[in-house]
Amino acid sequence: MIAVGSDHGGLALKQAVYELLQRRNLECKDYGTNSSESVDYPDFGAKVARVVSRGEADAGILICGTGIGMSIVANKFPGVRAALVHDEFTAQMAREHNNANILVMGGRVLSIEQGLKLVEIWLDSEFAGGRHQNRLAKITAVEQHL
Ligand code: RB5
Repeated sequence: MIAVGSDHGGLALKQAVYELLQRRNLECKDYGTNSSESVDYPDFGAKVARVVSRGEADAGILICGTGIGMSIVANKFPGVRAALVHDEFTAQMAREHNNANILVMGGRVLSIEQGLKLVEIWLDSEFAGGRHQNRLAKITAVEQHL
């Protein structure tokens, strides 16, 4: 299951992303927000990051105005690797090198079309493993204060 969430700044792109996931027959769950009323991004970022961290979702997609706030909050959760991506290269690397389990985007940075393209790239790319796996293990060690 892919968990999706946004604040008001990411609402339009999140709705389009949710429809894309449904078109691709991917199981997904929307954790809000679902109105244009101003809300606090940590509330929605935490909902998505929590289920990814607990293994209740396979992955997540978070969108706020810039993507910065959502990436900061999501990366507080153990096991979460949230990557803020801006273009096709960073979307691909987020999977291939970082095996990001949460994709983060800025709804005020990207057009809907660009955002959907980045989601497709992240979904369709594969983790390269090898030396990158060693680096992820080092991130886990930092998280465990080793
Ligand atoms: C909300 O105005 C805005 O601060 C938020 O969407 C996001 O960009 C925070 O990082």
